[in-house]
Parts: sequence; C-alpha cells; structure tokens
Amino acid sequence: MIFLFYNDYGFLIEKWRQMSSFKDLRIVDNFYQTSAFFPMPTVIISTLADDGSTNCGAYSLVQPYYVAGKEYYAMLLECRNSSNTAQNLIKRKKCALNFIYDDKALFKQAVKLGFPGDTTAEKMKDCIYTLEDGIRAEEDPNGSYPKVIQECFQVFECTWVDSLENCEGTQPLPEGQDHYELDKYNDFNGITTPYGAHFILKIDKILMKEEQYNGIINGVTAKDFPNIPVDYGYRDSKNFWYTRTPNNFLYKPIGELLPIRETSVASVQYAAKRIDPEVQFTDEACAKLVKVPRIFLPTVLKGCVAWAKENNVTLVTAEHMDIINDKRSKEKGK
Ligand SMILES: Cc1cc2nc3c(=O)[nH]c(=O)nc-3n(C[C@H](O)[C@H](O)[C@H](O)COP(=O)(O)O)c2cc1C
Repeated sequence: MIFLFYNDYGFLIEKWRQMSSFKDLRIVDNFYQTSAFFPMPTVIISTLADDGSTNCGAYSLVQPYYVAGKEYYAMLLECRNSSNTAQNLIKRKKCALNFIYDDKALFKQAVKLGFPGDTTAEKMKDCIYTLEDGIRAEEDPNGSYPKVIQECFQVFECTWVDSLENCEGTQPLPEGQDHYELDKYNDFNGITTPYGAHFILKIDKILMKEEQYNGIINGVTAKDFPNIPVDYGYRDSKNFWYTRTPNNFLYKPIGELLPIRETSVASVQYAAKRIDPEVQFTDEACAKLVKVPRIFLPTVLKGCVAWAKENNVTLVTAEHMDIINDKRSKEKGK
C-alpha cells in the first residue's frame, strides 16, 4: 500500500515537471482576434466607388507579400469579400493603403469606418480625414485613382494583381448579395472562401511625409519615427483594443543594437579566391567584407565580380570596393 502511494506521488511529480507553461486554447474562426493578442497596423484603405468618389475602409490584415527578387513588390490584404473595398478592388483594381498617425480622433474615425454594411456616401459624410490626390493622380492627371489621406505618415498606392490565380474574370457581387457561392474558391488571390477574399496588391508608389522621408534618406534617429497606433488583434463585442505611443521623449522608440560578428580576412580571402578565376581581390578589398554575414558572402562577391567584368577590372582593390559600395547606396537611394 505504502509502495503504491510513493509510486503515484512520483508519477504526479514527473507529470508536473513535464507540463507546459501554456494553456491549450481552442482555435476558432478569426483566431487572430478571438483567440490571440496579435500586434497589427491600422490601415485605412481608400478605393474608388462606382460614382468615382473615394471610399475608406479600416483594415489591419495588411502585410508585405513580395519583398524582394520579383519584378515588383506587393502587399497582401485579407478582407470580407462583400466589403466596399473588396468590391471596388474587383471592379477598378486601384487602392491606397493609408497608415494613420497615432491620434485618438483618427483612431475613433477608423473604428467608425469599420462598421460593416455602410455605403460610401453614409460613411464618408462625416469622415474627419482630409482627402488629397496621391502621386499617381499627379503623374497621370487623366487617370482615375482613389484619393489618399493627409493625416498619415505613409501611403502605399497599389494595384490588385488579378493575373495571379486567374482572377481577371472575378465578378462583382450582385446587388443585395452578401457573399459568393462558387463551385471552387481560390487559394491565395481573389475570392478564397464564401465570405473571404485575398488581394495581392502591387505597390506602385510609396508616399512618405517629409519628416520620415528625411530620416530614411539621411539616417533614421529616434525622433524620426512616427507615432503609430498598434491594434491588439483581440476584440470583443464592446471594444476594439489598441495601444498608443505616448508623444513623450521618454517613450521614443528604443534602438536595440544589432550583433556585429566579423569573419576573419582570411576566410573572406578563401571565398574570394574561388569565386571567379578571372577576377581576384586584394587583401585590403577582402578586409572591407569582414562584416558581411558568411551566408551572404558568395552573393556579395558575385556582385563585385559582375561589376569588375563590366569595368574590365581583373584585380579588385579597396578603392574599387568603395566605388561598388557607393553605386549600391546610390541604387538604394533611387
Ligand atoms: C481597426 C480595424 C481593422 C479592421 N481590419 C479588418 C481586416 O483586416 N479585414 C477585414 O475584412 N475587416 C477588417 N475590419 C472591418 C472592416 O473595417 C469592415 O468590414 C468595414 O465594413 C470595411 O469597410 P468597407 O466596406 O468600406 O470596405 C477592421 C475594422 C477596424 C475598425
């Protein structure tokens, strides 16, 4: 009897040791807002309504999609397919992603714009945002583009890439219908479920307010960061929860230093010798690459070799490396 007791006790201690520090929460529809705290941006999407006026809808499920290595850059939007935004994108393809500043009145307006079912005229009647032409409209005065919102630190002007997953023929919803009933739903672009849609949005222009623009071009310091409202994902039937960045020098963004790991000149030399038999690197040139993470070294060396061949250089020196670097930063600036 005593033996059994000790055995059970030992089993319980072992079980307690193995227990996770987390609870297992059931995953339900809209898990990011019903079962999670998920930091998200507050984006007002402007699109063109049937009468040519600008419609504004509030969105958070907006994130970078193609970030490098494609012919274009793209964002992804996930939204209700019966929304004004989805229907306008299906019909006219153009939108602007407006990132509002952190301000109580601006956020209150965003939440008002989030009420489902309002028509463009109803929602825009008392809207406090100031609408102005974007850069696309300036550059193409005969084209039709949704207006952009002035009270923003940045705006991405975008076009829906309907050629992905054969969405060119996507039909708008007939009047009065609140969802799609299709034989087959798409996987990642267009109408993806009876009530849902995904839009891959090519970025045509990034519009930046002067303060942030100057920061990015000249080197960002803490003062150049805009105050941004971050919504928590989680919402309940009464409140939309979000957090503010207090405009106080004590609460400015904090820079966490990136780790600097230098490889040895010898290991750069080793890789440089083998990259191309026709192009070699001096020791001083190799020394300029010690901060490049090892995984990127072949790509960086190949870039240098391409430049050397273009310029009939067979021995890359430190001065050449400076020219290559300068070219890179100029390209970045462009
Ligand atoms: C801050 C905020 C974020 C929202 N994010 C989304 C979202 O990412 N996707 C979505 O379908 N609805 C989202 N909604 C709800 C939409 O705003 C709502 O469906 C609204 O009717 C859309 O406006 P529209 O019909 O003019 O496009 C959000 C609402 C708020 C207030």
